[in-house]
Amino acid sequence: MKASRKVGLIKPSAIRKMLELSAGMENIVHMEQGEPSFNTPTHILAAAQAAMEDGYTHYTAVSGTRELRQAIAEKLEKENGINVDPQTEVTVTSGSQEAMFSAALGFLDPGDEALVISPHYPAHFEDPLLAEAKPVAIPTSAENNYKIEMEKLEDKITDKTKMIWISNPSNPTGHVYPREDLEILADVAKRHDLIVLVDEIYEKIVYDDAKHISLASISGMESRTITVNGFSKAYAMTGWRIGYMAAEKKLSSTLRTLHYYSTLCPNIISQKAALAALTGPQDCVREMVAEYDRRRGLVTSELRKLRVCSCPIPKGAFYVFPNFSKLEKNDETLAAEILEKARVVTVPGSGFGKAGEGCLRISYSSEYEQVEEGIKRIVSYIESKT
Ligand SMILES: Cc1ncc(COP(=O)(O)O)c(C=O)c1O
Repeated sequence: MKASRKVGLIKPSAIRKMLELSAGMENIVHMEQGEPSFNTPTHILAAAQAAMEDGYTHYTAVSGTRELRQAIAEKLEKENGINVDPQTEVTVTSGSQEAMFSAALGFLDPGDEALVISPHYPAHFEDPLLAEAKPVAIPTSAENNYKIEMEKLEDKITDKTKMIWISNPSNPTGHVYPREDLEILADVAKRHDLIVLVDEIYEKIVYDDAKHISLASISGMESRTITVNGFSKAYAMTGWRIGYMAAEKKLSSTLRTLHYYSTLCPNIISQKAALAALTGPQDCVREMVAEYDRRRGLVTSELRKLRVCSCPIPKGAFYVFPNFSKLEKNDETLAAEILEKARVVTVPGSGFGKAGEGCLRISYSSEYEQVEEGIKRIVSYIESKT
């Protein structure tokens, strides 16, 4: 049987490819996935258990339960400065990945163009492709502190441009965009009448003095921003498949149409768990972030010992994105060699777009001891080659 033409437009993610390459290999250290090492906090588990016992085993409203949408709207107002109506402007999704899928199919027609701030999360490029639109990468670089430049955006705008996609904090770079850059994005979006999808799934994982700012809180952006967020990273809930999208009423209505046909409604038990995550104690988040910070310190200080590596210190998420161009080796070859010889799974930077070439994405979301072992192996392998 032949797969559809649409499937032929997209490619599997580099993360999945590396995982497949490592399958069956022994003594492997995993540094490829953004999978929190922590279990979901116990008060969240308890809420899910109680929900099951209390008979919460049925469909909910398409957009999610009223109580969860209300809690999300309150969170958005209090923490993000975004005002949304929980009835019409918040939709609970089966993970934030689903939200992006709905946004691409909901707003992009064949031939439309979507600007993608790059290096980018793979779905930000592939989802527009699936909608038969053209993703147009806007390269940013570590040398320029991943700055979003007005000229680069303006340069790529055509009469087909309809959207901009960005993750803030960024996966893969860990960069947290300052207000100044978000203002540039907002200015361009308003002048050219564009919708911006901002993926804020790492908003709570920020370090040092970094402050996450929501794009939709910038004046004039509430009506044209789709804010995507979820529970996977902040609350260690990847397996629960629960997230949300918030957008102005008309945008939300389109998103909900797509959402209905792909999922009908989000999982009710996960919704009860997500409600407990939002309304319960937040020290679990602070504790996990403090531990990620400890791992970040270890990974960056080890990598910075290497003469051939330049490693910006990320202020968010749980990835480092060091550049190994000085090795004069293609990043895919480097990742394959590190897997084969050092037995550590990383992801080649080019898997996050051309702007990521020469880099590796290394995740420090696994246990400290694993991160320590993995980074030790990578460093000693590279030292042995230089
Ligand atoms: C930037 C970004 N967005 C979205 C997702 C998917 O999140 P969810 O588990 O909510 O679907 C990930 C997962 O790694 C991610 O890194």
